[in-house]
Amino acid sequence: MPDQQPLTAADWHFLAYHRFARLATVDDAGRPSIVPICFAADGEAIYSALDEKPKRVDPLRLRRVRNLLRHPAVALLVDDVFEDWDRLAFLLVHGTAELVWPGTDRHTAAIALLRARYPRYAGMALEQRPVIRIVPTAAFRWAARPAEAAPAPPRDLDLYALIQGRRSVRALRPDPVPPVLIERVLEAARWAPSPHGRMPWRFVVLTRPEAKARLAAAMGAEWERQLALDGEPPEVIARRKERSHQRIRDAPVCILLCLYLVDLDHYPDPVRQAAETTMAVQSLGAAAQNLLLAAYREGLDCGWMCAPLFCPETVRAALGLPPDLHPHALITMGYAARDPVRRERLPLEALVVRWE
Ligand SMILES: Cc1cc2nc3c(=O)[nH]c(=O)nc-3n(C[C@H](O)[C@H](O)[C@H](O)COP(=O)(O)O)c2cc1C
Repeated sequence: MPDQQPLTAADWHFLAYHRFARLATVDDAGRPSIVPICFAADGEAIYSALDEKPKRVDPLRLRRVRNLLRHPAVALLVDDVFEDWDRLAFLLVHGTAELVWPGTDRHTAAIALLRARYPRYAGMALEQRPVIRIVPTAAFRWAARPAEAAPAPPRDLDLYALIQGRRSVRALRPDPVPPVLIERVLEAARWAPSPHGRMPWRFVVLTRPEAKARLAAAMGAEWERQLALDGEPPEVIARRKERSHQRIRDAPVCILLCLYLVDLDHYPDPVRQAAETTMAVQSLGAAAQNLLLAAYREGLDCGWMCAPLFCPETVRAALGLPPDLHPHALITMGYAARDPVRRERLPLEALVVRWE
């Protein structure tokens, strides 16, 4: 029996760092066919859209589709080819292919993955066409230099360098973030310490432009109202609102960190209850820091927006969240558009008030 999950984390990482592959299928006569494809991977399968590029042919008449419907065993090659042979590397994936049809959750999720990776898919009507789904059955990875086979994270630094290197980055490039990397940073958050080990936080991940725009518009309207109450002049309100809108809109990924108190202890008196809630908030901060450091290590940068804390109802309504999720922080994540301001820190002597 082939292993159902033969790709290692490093293999998925290799896929995440590559944007094009070659897909090989075979016909009834045993004739191989190979085509270049765009793809996205979700840690379980690899997806490829039957997009509008081959306009001349009905997608079901495409050779690769005809072949895989009759012979689902396919091979996928992702490679680095350079004149400098020391940098050669490839990943060969054998798998079983099928079509995922429109109208299913899996199809919707696959299209979202592909659109997150390739901005040009935003303008194509992928909804009407099936998507190829390949479940890996075996994999082989080779590299001239072993380091190439398991690409090091872009900031392969020691912990102290990561802690000191991370900075709040408020301007991000629109380049999409591979889903594997989003999973990695959430995975880091998952390992944060928490009161009684109850993990009192939940994450809402937004990558679709419509979702981000909905959140930005709702929070912007509420912020406008609050700034007007503070007596801010209209032009200042308009400027601040647009800047915040832009931060959310331009971030390829927004992660809303929500407090989730349901699993915590419940006390009859308000003092202990408040302490329990404070512990949960402290733990949310720890999860956030894990996430920020992991993102930084992966070559990503983040900004922290506290706005959701000031309008939790608005955020819940905009995103259709249940009442037991308490929005606390919006982390914008992507690739830095420019070097951020490097804010200094107080010296340790000012922070350690006693050491005896
Ligand atoms: C709880 C919390 C809320 C924050 N809220 C915001 C915010 O709303 N907008 C923003 O631009 N930065 C926000 N930040 C980021 C801080 O301004 C930033 O961490 C601080 O200035 C230190 O800079 P550094 O992160 O680059 O080291 C927040 C940080 C924390 C921990």
